[in-house]
Amino acid sequence: MAGGRGIQTPFGIFYGSNITPHPEAGIGGWSDEDFVRAMTLGEAPDGSHYFPVFPYTSFRLMTETDLLHLKDYLFSLPASPKVNREHEVPFPFNLRPPLYFWKLMFLEKGSFEKDPSKSELWNRGAYLSNALAHCGECHTPRNLLGGLKASMHYAGSREGPEGELAPNITPDQETGIGAWSKQDLQWLLETGMKPDADNVQGLMAEAIDDGYSHLPPEDLKAMAEYLASLPPIKNRVISENQDSEQDW
Ligand code: HEC
Repeated sequence: MAGGRGIQTPFGIFYGSNITPHPEAGIGGWSDEDFVRAMTLGEAPDGSHYFPVFPYTSFRLMTETDLLHLKDYLFSLPASPKVNREHEVPFPFNLRPPLYFWKLMFLEKGSFEKDPSKSELWNRGAYLSNALAHCGECHTPRNLLGGLKASMHYAGSREGPEGELAPNITPDQETGIGAWSKQDLQWLLETGMKPDADNVQGLMAEAIDDGYSHLPPEDLKAMAEYLASLPPIKNRVISENQDSEQDW
């Protein structure tokens, strides 16, 4: 949690910040309100804007109770004095004030709201997938300004973080994962193994090893329930140097 992990994006390299409770190098001086504001509005305690590479566009869906539990956990970790590394992002993308306008266009407000027409399991899965596991930050394509295209929710992105291709994970039979069962999805999130017995690589493998594989089976089952219910979207995600049938 001491920061320094670089993430390559089309706008440059961003380095994760120190989120240990060190009073100067980390977030040890933050109040509860500071933490909630950062996670839901992308605002630093001094009022400046965070770059959306910090996925507050997803975390903003978290309930205040969960946010404060998360802060409690972070504040229980050893404090690291590691100083934050400067992002390597060229002009004009290195400017923070324009993010005010970016947020007006792309940052929605408000926390997760249950859909009463759906089951408890589905709602739990939607909450976990969209607010915490932030699947869409990689699997939903972005527009030229880096905003997520809501109409293509989870339909795959050719330019995920690190330039990795994130496949279409909607249940489209032809271009997505329509052939996968809920058990297949749950098994992938737990082990990183696909139905064809191949393992996922790169950032997905990292997200599973460091994250999703630690979730209790009931939560993974809920996420599979939600994912299998997504509207199928036809989108053949292929890399730049392959022939594209899809006009991006
Ligand atoms: C940090 C980026 C990132 C996040 C977050 C992420 N994924 Fe992925 N995902 C990827 C990448 C990249 C791949 C491609 C891996 C490969 O090719 O081996 C992938 C592959 C997959 C696959 C395999 C699809 C196929 O057709 O082979 C599934 C299913 C999947 N992700 C589901 C999810 C779900 C569900 C979540 C949220 C719980 C999630 N991913 C979060 C980046 C991400």
